Amino acid sequence: MLKIAFPPLRLPGRNALALTVASGQKLGIQGAKLDRVLGGALKRAMAGSRFTGAKEQTLSVVAPARSRLTRIVLVGIGDPAKANAALFHRAGSAVVAALGSGKDSQAVLLVDRHNEMMLAAAAAAASMAFGARLRSYRFDKYRTKLKPEQKPALKTLAVMSEDVAGSRGAYANLDKIADGVFFTRDLVSEPPNVIYPETLAEQCNTLKKLGVKVEVLDEKQMKKLGMGALLGVAQGSIRPARLVTMLWQGNPGARDKRPAAFVGKGVTFDTGGISLKPPPGMDEMKWDMAGAGAVIGAMMALAGRKAKANVLGVAGLVENMLSGNAQRPGDIVTTMSGQTVEVLNTDAEGRLVLADAMWYAQEKFNPSCIVDLATLTGAIITALGHEYAGIFSNDDKLCGQLTKAGKEAEELLWRFPLADAYDKDIDSPVADIKNIGSRGEAGSITAAQFLQRFVKKGTPWAHLDIAGMAWTNKDRPLSPKGATAFGVRLLDRFVADSFEKT
Ligand code: BES
Ligand code: MN
Ligand code: ZN
Repeated sequence: MLKIAFPPLRLPGRNALALTVASGQKLGIQGAKLDRVLGGALKRAMAGSRFTGAKEQTLSVVAPARSRLTRIVLVGIGDPAKANAALFHRAGSAVVAALGSGKDSQAVLLVDRHNEMMLAAAAAAASMAFGARLRSYRFDKYRTKLKPEQKPALKTLAVMSEDVAGSRGAYANLDKIADGVFFTRDLVSEPPNVIYPETLAEQCNTLKKLGVKVEVLDEKQMKKLGMGALLGVAQGSIRPARLVTMLWQGNPGARDKRPAAFVGKGVTFDTGGISLKPPPGMDEMKWDMAGAGAVIGAMMALAGRKAKANVLGVAGLVENMLSGNAQRPGDIVTTMSGQTVEVLNTDAEGRLVLADAMWYAQEKFNPSCIVDLATLTGAIITALGHEYAGIFSNDDKLCGQLTKAGKEAEELLWRFPLADAYDKDIDSPVADIKNIGSRGEAGSITAAQFLQRFVKKGTPWAHLDIAGMAWTNKDRPLSPKGATAFGVRLLDRFVADSFEKT
């Protein structure tokens, strides 16, 4: 775990050092000072390289003999007048990537003052620290034979700027958000023999110490409530289902006391059931609980930073397995809403889980809006790849707020349509609804239409299909390979912008 500290600004001693440089190879105030101490070594190194100071570029410089530094990494921020928080996130991430190849256990990151900076020193330093921490995530728990040189050497990053107190203050909330992101990444990374409905519910219980009211429903309680769709998915597994609600009441005096509700698909493993998935890549379906994972991490972030808002998190937790008791294609189940569903494909299970989880949220908590997150369809990956998640909504305002929050949090959303013509495609001849639409046609949209049938009239609702975003096979600026925790930062920002600013 990378530790981040904000010590007072001074020219560093025996360390690796990272230093911001603006485009045109322009050093900032501290950088220029340091370069003088080092006899012009930094300027010489830049002059002999293609490093211009463009955003996210890095240049590793061997520390000159007269210093006690080990290495110096120059990191570009481009035009300081245009360098926003996102850019500093990426620059911080680039620093961790560049220092990752070395042996230094401690490094200093000097977030310098450049001419005409868009951001204040504190915001720039805090943003760089945030990017550095998010990039440093590792899940090495089960790698017992790693050699020292395979483990990250860097243990602490001392982030220095001209505004020490301001940096610390600006970073405090970001650190809590990163805690939530890391919690989600851990939950999603864990294998499906370790994280299953009961153990994931136990993990939700750890939020109690942050002041979150956590309730866990077992199968008996769900049966009594009539959650036939969720339980139908779970019946093939020996692992019993759970439904978790997490309530954070950070603004008890709010005029509108209704919480915003976040509902997550938590299929801890998706074999497809009797409509079995093909074996190649089936292991990936351990992260079919990433929607629930994001909701849990978002609740941790919000409670951790004591958000002044009322928010409900709901996680529908099941394992989709085959057995003599598994749900069959053709089964008809009755949902908590009373609507019946013909299950034509047991692999379209996420919508069945969400149908009951969303209905329960509305019945019990009367939320002001519902946002569901789910690794719902392979079709969304066909449409958007791994750059945008899909958003579907019955409410332009809510959709706009989420899309804006996504942009700010660098978790992008692209809107898809909902329409009666698509809705017709999930009418069943024998029940109220069928759980799949026409083969090969608009699979992500018909899945969203299915969910919409479980949204009460007048409730603003948005569905985020995050199937392409929950996991990454390549390192990304704010997320190394593996679980991304997509949605945590987006939901946190949505709450901050939409509920905490009034
Ligand atoms: N969890 C899957 C969706 C998924 C697929 C997520 C690939 C990530 C990567 C979901 O439960 C599913 O199986 N959906 C089916 C729906 C189909 C049967 C209508 C799909 O997308 O193929
Ligand atoms: Mn499935
Ligand atoms: Zn699934």
